[in-house]
Amino acid sequence: MDNGLNDDDPGGARECSYGWCAASRRAGEAEPVAGADRPGFLRAGLRRRAFMGRLAALLHGIVALAAGAPVIAFMLDPQRRRSRGATAAPFIRVASLDALPSGRPVRVPVFAPRRDSFIQYPRARIGEVWLLRGGVANRSAGRGGDPAGQGGTGADGNDPGGNGADGATRNATGADGPPLVRAWQTLCPHLGCGIDYAPLRRQFACPCHTSAFAPDGSRLFGPSPRDMDALDVRITNAEGRPWVEVQYRQFRTGVADRVVV
Ligand code: FES
Repeated sequence: MDNGLNDDDPGGARECSYGWCAASRRAGEAEPVAGADRPGFLRAGLRRRAFMGRLAALLHGIVALAAGAPVIAFMLDPQRRRSRGATAAPFIRVASLDALPSGRPVRVPVFAPRRDSFIQYPRARIGEVWLLRGGVANRSAGRGGDPAGQGGTGADGNDPGGNGADGATRNATGADGPPLVRAWQTLCPHLGCGIDYAPLRRQFACPCHTSAFAPDGSRLFGPSPRDMDALDVRITNAEGRPWVEVQYRQFRTGVADRVVV
């Protein structure tokens, strides 16, 4: 029966809720609020429970975010490392020029800031380099992994004029032509063992599979697929004395070409 109230339960058959039903509506009674039929302290309990539920959901969200952020950062980190690796390696001060003997290779550690996962080390040992001051003629052009034959001359464009930003940098090439200081990565291009120097034979020698290199880093024999990896060098003046700085990089092992990793 149409009662003009657009009633969806005209017969009043549906069960009433909170004591209110279609008949009550027809009688003009206001629709009751949930819990309104309960005592005041029970209604307050309902509101408190709803508030606590929302607060718990918010706290869960915050905890989930805090727990998930490191995981997301870890997953994205290789991508960030790749983009960082694409930028040029900085020159790192490794030794005082005055402390280097002439004509004898010296192995020196390289220290630099390093980030390990989420820990930042202001000064960590990141590797070693062989340094040789004078005494060795420049390598012939086009050899192995240093096609320009200019390893250690700083002539790769990083300091083309021999003058760094502080105006105190000069090319690591001696006035008579041969490099004043040359530097090589100590890791063997074959499989990455540490290369030693045998002073009696005047050779660099890898103890793992007996690759041998001349004092200028060129490959003599053994399974190494290329020469020792030459690093760019520059000399800077600071604190009243000259310093040797090296552009420290590591390279892929087991391949003939030099590929920075
Ligand atoms: S790692 Fe040096 S020769 Fe194999």
